[in-house]
Amino acid sequence: MHIAPYDIGGMATSKTTPPSGKKHRIAVIGGDGIGPEVMQEALKVLRAAGAQLETTDFDLGGARYLRDGEVLSDATLAQLRNFDAILLGAVGTPGVPPGVIERGLLLKMRFELDLYINRRPFAGTAPGHIAPHDFIVIRENTEGPYVGEGGVLRKGTPQEVATQGSVNTAHGVERCVRYAFELAATRSRKHLTLVHKTNVLTFAGDLWQRTFDRVAKEFPQVATAYNHVDAACIYFVQDPHRYDVIVTDNLFGDILTDLGGAVSGGIGIASSANLNPAGTGPSMFEPVHGSAPDIVGTGKANPVAAILSAAHMLEFLGEGAMAERVRAACQAPASGSTSQMGDEISARVAN
Ligand code: IPM
Ligand code: MN
Repeated sequence: MHIAPYDIGGMATSKTTPPSGKKHRIAVIGGDGIGPEVMQEALKVLRAAGAQLETTDFDLGGARYLRDGEVLSDATLAQLRNFDAILLGAVGTPGVPPGVIERGLLLKMRFELDLYINRRPFAGTAPGHIAPHDFIVIRENTEGPYVGEGGVLRKGTPQEVATQGSVNTAHGVERCVRYAFELAATRSRKHLTLVHKTNVLTFAGDLWQRTFDRVAKEFPQVATAYNHVDAACIYFVQDPHRYDVIVTDNLFGDILTDLGGAVSGGIGIASSANLNPAGTGPSMFEPVHGSAPDIVGTGKANPVAAILSAAHMLEFLGEGAMAERVRAACQAPASGSTSQMGDEISARVAN
């Protein structure tokens, strides 16, 4: 596995920001399946990089739910608010009905902590290509169909009616679009693509397009483009080099970032940051992958996605140079089991 170096763009710190000397208070949710396995390696690498962390474990996820019914109580959420950041491995356990953990834990954190940016970088060489690509998807993370607007009537009858609306607010769209422009302005290519489906979703699409066009006027140095989401799927595979920064809504962003992972070295290395850039609460960092219960305990889980997500966290906590060293250590392939890969990457960052 090879990961191309990527242009992280401006986050909170630059690549050369020296260690802050601060101790960071981190809430750790290992979660289910391979979550705790990859988390252990991510923490190992951060410590090897010299990060000063005071970690507190939170036993949350599908297994906890099956044991005593807690998904994420308001009391636990209140505790999480006191940390500088949250690091999450993966959640999801067979036997838990769909939606319980997703809505009750992950989405509850995204909504309640106002983690309105889901930032997912993709750097790699797509199958059939020679040159590496390097782009970042900025996914709106608190609105769209994820809000859960809608309902069901006459359930279980031939007349059943199900609706599921997409919520798009001027405030929510603008803060996301603005973040994407600010990010694009810090990158070398300074290019931003809006991805939507304005030809069909004419109400939501129009709000996104008008907001994008209006904010664009404040960033004359950023070149812009628009792609419908179906066309973007083709470009991800056939011409990923056209992208620098992409901004899109919650559901399109969910789907596109799985595809982004698939063309950038696989889901095993896809990292993500759920950010509250306004700083009104802690941000949350997690790999894009799930809990992979089928390989738990085999040592086959790739810890790189979790390690790169942890690097994202370092960046956001103001440890720019440290984050850069962790990312650099992930660029060359690592081999062996989950923990051997963690050891190898740790050895590289320590040097
Ligand atoms: C992701 C995941 C989540 C999402 C699920 C688990 C709720 O697929 O982070 O991409 O849909 O956002
Ligand atoms: Mn997803």
